[in-house]
Amino acid sequence: MMTFTVFGNPIAHSLSPLIHQRFAEQFGIELDYTRSLTSKAGFAEAVAKFFRSGGGGANVTVPFKTVAAGLVTHLTPRAARAGAVNTLIPLGHGQLAGDTTDGEGLVRDLQRVLKCQELPYEVLVIGAGGAASSVIEALQGAGAQVVMSNRSAAKVSALQNDFCDLQALPFGDLARPPRQTSQVQRILVNATSASLTGTELPIHSAWFQETVLAYDMMYGKQPTAFLEQAHAAGAKKVADGLGMLIEQAALSFALWHDGQLPSVEQVLPAVRNALGAR
Ligand code: ATR
Repeated sequence: MMTFTVFGNPIAHSLSPLIHQRFAEQFGIELDYTRSLTSKAGFAEAVAKFFRSGGGGANVTVPFKTVAAGLVTHLTPRAARAGAVNTLIPLGHGQLAGDTTDGEGLVRDLQRVLKCQELPYEVLVIGAGGAASSVIEALQGAGAQVVMSNRSAAKVSALQNDFCDLQALPFGDLARPPRQTSQVQRILVNATSASLTGTELPIHSAWFQETVLAYDMMYGKQPTAFLEQAHAAGAKKVADGLGMLIEQAALSFALWHDGQLPSVEQVLPAVRNALGAR
């Protein structure tokens, strides 16, 4: 039986084993998917050991995505540009490829939630850390106009050097109603880590009222602070990042299993249940 794993720290609550088991069932594949807790110092050796012993593929999560990009022998162009890897694919003879499916995972989840094929929207990404920067390319590739707003403006300016069509919005502007209604409908994406601490962001309620979707890349047992805020402000539609987690996993699955892309809708209820029970 093929063995897969996810490297992270912490990793005890990872939903990836459940997600990949459910995907495998869709195709009648038998696999073993484990969680690998490792330290920064031990990460490279843990990866090498896993693949030496015949591992079929691995996911990489916080805090190893950047280190993983420096470890592989082949980087996909999108992973090279993101400087991050969430999927490791063995190529044989000790060679290892690294890819990132995070950005495409978000795009596919936005399309799923909004029931559309393309993304003809303005996507206002709040935050400019690793989570935010990893999704810019895929959003732009899907046709979205990406605007970024971050507490520390310098981080957005730095990203504008890498992504020429990236627009910046001063963080203070979020505390006031949007200046003009843009021609294009807007999606609001929270890519800050503020949800982890239950902190509300200084966003005026009009931003939530005008948006077609308020999306939090984070998820949890309870609705995140951002989604509570969006809901209270009168947002038409809200969604957390659990769908993105499953979409990026589906894309990893396809990379390991001859392009077979699992159905996300089919596993979402079970994963939501498991999240609630943990
Ligand atoms: P991640 O990998 O999750 O993106 P990160 O790289 O540490 O984590 O980035 C965290 C992001 O959340 C940053 O954009 C951070 O803003 P700053 O760059 O100004 O620090 C943002 N963030 C975290 N807590 C926040 C808060 N309370 N209000 C606004 N932004 C916050």
